[in-house]
Amino acid sequence: MKLTGSHCLFLISTILGLSSAESPNDDAPCIARSPTTGLFFDLNAISLFPPEMKDGKKVLKEARDDSWHAKGHDYPANFTLNICAPVIENVTNVVGVDSSRWKNVSAYYERDEKVYSIGEQASEPFFRGRKLVLNYTNGSPCPDDLNMASTNASTRRKSTIMSFLCDRDAPASVATPSFVGSMDSCTYFFEVRSSAACGGIAVDPQAGGLGPGGVFGVIMLIAVAVYLIGGCAYQRTVMHQRGWRQCPNFSLWAGFFDFVKVSIFALIPCWSRRSFRHGHSASHASRESNGGLPSSRVD
Ligand SMILES: *[C@@H]1O[C@H](CO)[C@@H](O)[C@H](O)[C@H]1NC(C)=O
Ligand SMILES: *[C@@H]1O[C@H](CO)[C@@H](O)[C@H](O)[C@H]1NC(C)=O
Ligand SMILES: *[C@@H]1O[C@H](CO)[C@@H](O)[C@H](O)[C@H]1NC(C)=O
Ligand SMILES: *[C@@H]1O[C@H](CO)[C@@H](O)[C@H](O)[C@H]1NC(C)=O
Ligand SMILES: *[C@@H]1O[C@H](CO)[C@@H](O)[C@H](O)[C@H]1NC(C)=O
Repeated sequence: MKLTGSHCLFLISTILGLSSAESPNDDAPCIARSPTTGLFFDLNAISLFPPEMKDGKKVLKEARDDSWHAKGHDYPANFTLNICAPVIENVTNVVGVDSSRWKNVSAYYERDEKVYSIGEQASEPFFRGRKLVLNYTNGSPCPDDLNMASTNASTRRKSTIMSFLCDRDAPASVATPSFVGSMDSCTYFFEVRSSAACGGIAVDPQAGGLGPGGVFGVIMLIAVAVYLIGGCAYQRTVMHQRGWRQCPNFSLWAGFFDFVKVSIFALIPCWSRRSFRHGHSASHASRESNGGLPSSRVD
């Protein structure tokens, strides 16, 4: 095979294509993309899940037994809510909500020993201007409609709007909701302070983007590509080389690969003897020998 200029072009386009391969996806649950900065905001960090019990031990370290709380202050109830997920508490006897949907309640308050849902689970935070917003709808019927035959689908239901504020001092994975107010006890407003609402990340975390190691790998690949292309161009146009000889430092690399080949053949008997004696040390050694290579993708 002859390495021509078009081979070089193909190589570099492959490498550049690799760095733009991840397709950002803001439909992923609990992730919003800011239209002004293009950064992704991942609220999954403050979305609570019930502790999974396995052999009587909690599996998830960050699992909690209760959801986030907000004091009602002058409102005659305190609020319990979760982000993007139903509340962890087992809510029962939710006013005006079918029992099959009790497990979908994402925010509620208790009053006179009754549970009022102020919204069902939703996982689509979005940006309204510069504000990161999440809303829950389809809670208990609003007070005006409670007196009427609430079997009609047209009755208004309680809903919740949360506005997220960046709090860099807040510990990771902690959300502090504050109750702002309610109109007619039908729509409830909250501000949620959290570090999850701070500077987003450039790559969608759900899309298996590049970690720091991956970024390093891409930089390395681009450096190698620049070396190859630049070297090819130089050897071809200035030195008038053709075929494999136009590869930069061809003789040096040919010598290097010969050396590697010889070394590997020299080492093989050595390795197989060692693995014969203590089983796992050979696999350990081969893993270590691979550890220095930069990986192009980290998932
Ligand atoms: C709300 O919680 C506070 C303590 O956090 C408590 O003092 C207050 O009585 C509660 N209010 C209601 C209406 O339950
Ligand atoms: C909810 O109910 C389940 C069983 O139905 C129970 O295992 C769990 O501990 C309850 N959670 C809370 C927070 O009460
Ligand atoms: C309610 O929760 C169940 C699972 O718990 C889910 O399959 C269903 O889609 C949820 N419904 C809504 C309207 O979110
Ligand atoms: C509530 O959120 C949904 C997306 O989940 C959006 O389509 C809708 O416009 C929002 N409603 C309000 C009142 O912000
Ligand atoms: C419920 O809907 C029916 C028609 O579907 C209507 O005649 C009735 O007035 C409605 N009731 C209320 C309380 O809205």
